[in-house]
Amino acid sequence: MHDDATAPEQSRALAPDWLAEPDDPNDLAAGVWPASAHRAGDGALVIAGIPAPELAREFGTPVLVLDEDEVRARARGALAAFGDAAARHGGRARVYYAGKAFLSTEVARWMIDAGLNVDVCSAGELAVALAADVPPARIGFHGNNKRVFELERAVEAGIGTIIVDSEIEIERLAAITERLDRRQSVLIRVNSGVHAETHSFLATAHEDQKFGFTLEAAERAAERVHELPLVDLAGLHCHIGSQIFGTGGFRESASRVLELHARLLEAGILGEDPVLNLGGGFGIAYTRADTPTPIAELASGIVDAVADECAVRGIDLPVLAFEPGRSIVGTPGVTLYEVGTTKTVTVGEGERRYVSVDGGMSDNARPALYGAQYSARLASREGTDAPVLSRVVGLHCESGDVVVDHEYLPGDVTPGDLLAVPATGAYCAPLASNYNHVPRPPVVAVSDGRARIIVRGERIEDLLARDAGIDPVPAVRAGEGEE
Ligand code: LLP
Repeated sequence: MHDDATAPEQSRALAPDWLAEPDDPNDLAAGVWPASAHRAGDGALVIAGIPAPELAREFGTPVLVLDEDEVRARARGALAAFGDAAARHGGRARVYYAGKAFLSTEVARWMIDAGLNVDVCSAGELAVALAADVPPARIGFHGNNKRVFELERAVEAGIGTIIVDSEIEIERLAAITERLDRRQSVLIRVNSGVHAETHSFLATAHEDQKFGFTLEAAERAAERVHELPLVDLAGLHCHIGSQIFGTGGFRESASRVLELHARLLEAGILGEDPVLNLGGGFGIAYTRADTPTPIAELASGIVDAVADECAVRGIDLPVLAFEPGRSIVGTPGVTLYEVGTTKTVTVGEGERRYVSVDGGMSDNARPALYGAQYSARLASREGTDAPVLSRVVGLHCESGDVVVDHEYLPGDVTPGDLLAVPATGAYCAPLASNYNHVPRPPVVAVSDGRARIIVRGERIEDLLARDAGIDPVPAVRAGEGEE
């Protein structure tokens, strides 16, 4: 027994309602981990055939491990789900992978292999997609403030679709297409008034955000685009939010946007094969309390509703497009950390174990930014003691530096153990920072017993190199596990 052993009732006192005490604090909840994750005979967590201790030895900690086969399978699954749902109504669907969730040239290639397109939202993401040889026609470009040089680059590169977000942007595109004498196809981003929150949707406060045109403004924007000689209106776009579990918000939004779509068709402003892009936002499970709808079910729920609406309006089903990000890369990602210290605090009648790991808000800002909940398991072995309510925290100089707010971990978690946090494949690496001059960790793709770096980790030297007052940059001894 450890000095800081916690009695079960004290441990439960601080637990939130949604967190059930597990019978076995070493189990791997279905749906939260990559399908390949399991425990080896010695208890170590194995992902895509590689034991976590091996990954930690080779790449150091923290490290973001991405199960390549699962990413590819989820990409194919999304395309099949939306494609099949549309085909049942005699229609077609395209899927754009939302690169903001996590983009590297490798991941972009996996998407193209799977038959998806790629959605980018900055010159940087566009450069990654082009460096990965994504055919420009298969790129969509988003953003409420695309800079003029970004629009020029996109038009020059011949990218398939620019999703326009403001009147000013339309005029900029008019000028750029004329100057470069190039045609450009666009979608108009509509703010449908449906703002989805996780698990529910509200039809309020819709004007008060920065993206898109209101339905009325979108109609004027469409008329304006129609006048331009080199800008082609391909259709309408709307995205209602992220980490959404049901279909209600999508259906309501689609219904509102279809009304405008139908009016534009009637006015002859929308041409052949118009597109309706309904964005991304399909939720995933971060903890066992999350129960997302399977993608095939979501896809048919949304597409059937769109088809019904089209039938009522007497119009053809548009070419449908979707932009999933999180639901493709989120679950395949697992972050490995090493435990550095543990301590137990008493709060009133309750007790909580603090488990400090060698990363934190610099590699996963989501708990600090959004109050996002995660889960965790021992990865180097199975624990033997009863579960205690734990909070996994990082090494940053901030009390909000939480990795996993509430989790039952075995009472014998100890310095040197490896801890794994699942569902970190989306919006963790892209939101990473160098807070406290902590280098960002590598991203390692694992498949069939093999591991390779797809994004290199930083070293302290890389950070010093940005400091204009340091020249030359001195060698800094690498930490354990660093290259
Ligand atoms: N399409 C558009 C226009 C978007 O703005 C987004 C996400 C997506 C597609 C992809 O959504 P997904 O399928 O990945 O939910 N950083 C936040 C999420 C921000 C999402 C921004 N837009 C987070 O970590 O939860």
